[in-house]
Amino acid sequence: MTTDQRRVLTGITTSGTPHLGNYAGAIRPAIHSSTEPNVDAFFFLADFHALIKCADPARVAQSRMEIAATWIAAGLDTERVTFYRQSDVPEIPELCWMLTCVTAKGLMNRAHAYKASVDANLAKAVDPDDGVTMGLFSYPVLMAADILMFNAHRVPVGRDQIQHLEMTRDIAQRFNHLYGGGQDLFVLPEVQIDEDVATLPGLDGRKMSKSYNNTIPLFEGGAKALKSAVAQIVTDSRLPGEPKDAESSHLYTLYRAFASHQQAAEFRQSLADGLGWGDAKHALCACIEAQIGPMRDTYADLMAHPARIEDILQAGAAKARQTAVPFMNQLREAVGLRQMASAAKSTTAKSAKSGQARLVSFRQDDGQFRQRLFAADGTELLLTEAFSDPKLLNQLSRQLAQADLSDVQADAQGQISLQAQGQCWARCPADLLAQVRQALSQI
Ligand code: TRP
Repeated sequence: MTTDQRRVLTGITTSGTPHLGNYAGAIRPAIHSSTEPNVDAFFFLADFHALIKCADPARVAQSRMEIAATWIAAGLDTERVTFYRQSDVPEIPELCWMLTCVTAKGLMNRAHAYKASVDANLAKAVDPDDGVTMGLFSYPVLMAADILMFNAHRVPVGRDQIQHLEMTRDIAQRFNHLYGGGQDLFVLPEVQIDEDVATLPGLDGRKMSKSYNNTIPLFEGGAKALKSAVAQIVTDSRLPGEPKDAESSHLYTLYRAFASHQQAAEFRQSLADGLGWGDAKHALCACIEAQIGPMRDTYADLMAHPARIEDILQAGAAKARQTAVPFMNQLREAVGLRQMASAAKSTTAKSAKSGQARLVSFRQDDGQFRQRLFAADGTELLLTEAFSDPKLLNQLSRQLAQADLSDVQADAQGQISLQAQGQCWARCPADLLAQVRQALSQI
């Protein structure tokens, strides 16, 4: 990631079947923003969050599949972005615990979702915490872990999530203060509310939402289900031939979300000219169908071949963990869960098993950062110089991993110095150069 690249991250809780509102309000704009230059997008299935809301294993399993297939069918370039399941990245719940330990209980007491449950209980005159699980209570901490694990700069979400982002910033600040030693371990993320992204009305005109039972299906049930849902959209009693005001009709709001400017203007005029609601619904169906119809085949194909979805998600998790694993090593060091001198052995055993060269970051007692490079068989090859800026250290490591290094010369003591940006990254005996080059090429 270059410095002017922006990391954008968002997740969808896997407890339901995606509807038209999820598509137009979240998935479509997210995919769109992932194609902008300089955007490094992380999109994930919040399936640990699903367990908070839904204790039906079949529902959770089905929803993960439907939501993953929807993202892919809607055109997400899974090579370009990092697309994964929360539950495939064990560093996220690990970070969640670290954050839990610095989060004030009082902060969580103020969370809207928790307060709403308490208020509902008070209204029913039952125990205020009736039916409230620790999952619900600490929901915002898990969400903070999702975001901070990847140091996202921007988090596009709906308005109902603004408070969670504020809490994330609070928690990140507290952690930086306690453990950063003057360096910010976490980026403070910005919430992104897109004003021009459509919040779709549902069949009854209220916001389209599963909890209002007013949704229009996206892919499930095919064109037929779309048609029969559109037929149920509530309209006024104006007859064909009577002029209709587009702005006050949620049918028009839906139309506009899928039409070009020009189409929308024409539709608006037709309503003013007396287009009947039946014909208007017909036009709405055709307009939605033009956009999502072609995606539906891809969706059905993926749903019929779950192994394909699984492969894509596994590859995404591996990609996400390229960031999460080294960062978690750094965080473990920061909180004092450090390797002891003898731990080099256990590191050796681990990487020998995984058969991959590794670069492990850690922080010294004086606050400086270093990395150790291990070969695929677990042998330690080198220890870098100490850097006060962990980002710079990472940058140099990445540069060296991509550098040619074939003309590095040994000094009189038989040592070589590996340099990037005019700085010495590490020194090591010249006879290790071949191994170092090989290890670097694998990380
Ligand atoms: N809480 C979000 C929602 O219900 C889903 C979510 C979980 C999320 N973790 C996240 C969104 C991290 C953005 C970033 O909509």
